[in-house]
Amino acid sequence: MIRRELSGSPAAERRAQTRALLSWYDSHRRELPWREDSSPYHVWLSEIMLQQTRVEAVVGYYRRFIAALPDIASLAAADEETVLKLWEGLGYYSRARSLQRAAVMVMEQYRGKLPPDPAELRKLPGIGEYTSAAIASISFGAAEPAVDGNLLRIYARAALYRENIRTPAAASAARAYFKERMTSRPGDFNQALMDLGATVCTPPPRRPDCASCPWSAHCASLREDPSGETAAELPVMPDKKARRKEHLTVLMLYMGNRILLRKRPPKGLLAGLYEFPNLPGELSGEEVTEAVRSMGLSPLRVRGAGSARHIFTHKEWEMSGYEILLADGPVPAGLIAAGREELGERYAIPSAFARYVEKLSSIVVE
Ligand code: ADE
Repeated sequence: MIRRELSGSPAAERRAQTRALLSWYDSHRRELPWREDSSPYHVWLSEIMLQQTRVEAVVGYYRRFIAALPDIASLAAADEETVLKLWEGLGYYSRARSLQRAAVMVMEQYRGKLPPDPAELRKLPGIGEYTSAAIASISFGAAEPAVDGNLLRIYARAALYRENIRTPAAASAARAYFKERMTSRPGDFNQALMDLGATVCTPPPRRPDCASCPWSAHCASLREDPSGETAAELPVMPDKKARRKEHLTVLMLYMGNRILLRKRPPKGLLAGLYEFPNLPGELSGEEVTEAVRSMGLSPLRVRGAGSARHIFTHKEWEMSGYEILLADGPVPAGLIAAGREELGERYAIPSAFARYVEKLSSIVVE
C-alpha cells in the first residue's frame, strides 16, 4: 500500500528529523531545575515564569518559589502579598495573580490536580495555547506542539516560510509542521526545540549556528542557501509599533529612618505593587519641593538621585529621581512609612525602580 504524504517531506525523512532532534537533546539538553521531574505543578510554574523572562533569570526565582510554596495546595492558601513578594523583580505581575487564582480553582474544581486535557487546562486563568501544550506534553505525554517565538523561528527557517510570522495562519502552519514530526517523546520534543531555539537556531543579533544544528540536513533554508544567510534573515516580522515614552519624577521621601511608599492601584500596570511616590513629567528641584509641600510634607533637603529607564512591553519609563529628607510629622493618607527591613520582607517593589532601591541600601540614616 502506498501511504499518502501529508507534507512535502516523505515519512522516512520526517522520522529521521525526529530522531536527530531527540538524540541531540539527549546529549545537549540544558540541566534546569524544572527538568528534574515532570510534575504538573513544577512544569506549570516554570512555564508561567518563563513567559517573557529569560531562563537564567528564572532559575533562582523558581527554586525559591518551590521552597516556599511546594505544592498547589500551599499556593492556593498563600496570601497575595506573599506570592507577589516571591515574584518581585520577575515582572509581568498579573502572571503571579493568575497563577494563584488558578491554584484556587484547581483545589476547588479539580480536586487539587491539574487536568491533563489541554482544553480543560485553558479554562484556568493564565493558561493559553502555549502553556496548555507545554504542560500537556511535558507532564502528560500529549502530542501538542508548544508554539512560542522559538518554535515559530525554527519553523520559518526549517520550512522556508517566507510570509509574515506574526499571524494566526503562520502559527497553525508551524503547529501542523511540528505535530507531524512529534511521533515520540512529545515533552522532550518541545523542550528540545526550546533549547535549539535558545542555543543554536538563535534570533538576531546572534547568527544561527547552522553547523551545529541537528536539523541542518533537514532545513529547507539551508538547502536553498548553504551559506546560512537566508536562514539568518528569517522569520519575516513586520516592525512592531514604537513604544510610548513617559517621563516620571520619582520621589524617595525619607522620614527619620523610614521611607514613604505608595501602593499602586489594583488594576493596570504593576497593579497592587508598592512604589516610590512619583509624578508625571520631568520636574526641577524647585518643582519637587513645591509638590512635596503640597502633599502635606515638610522637605528639609532635596537632591538629585539620578535617572533610570525601564522598558515595558508597550511603554518606556524615563525616570528622574530625587532624595528628599523630610521633617518628622504625620504620614499623609495614601502613603506608607516603611522601615528598611520591611522593604526586604514585606513590600514588593517592581524592578522598574531597582535603580532607586539600590540607592536606598547605600544610605546610612543617622
Ligand atoms: N522556555 C519556555 N519553556 C522552557 C522550558 N521548559 N525549558 C527551557 N526553556 C523554556
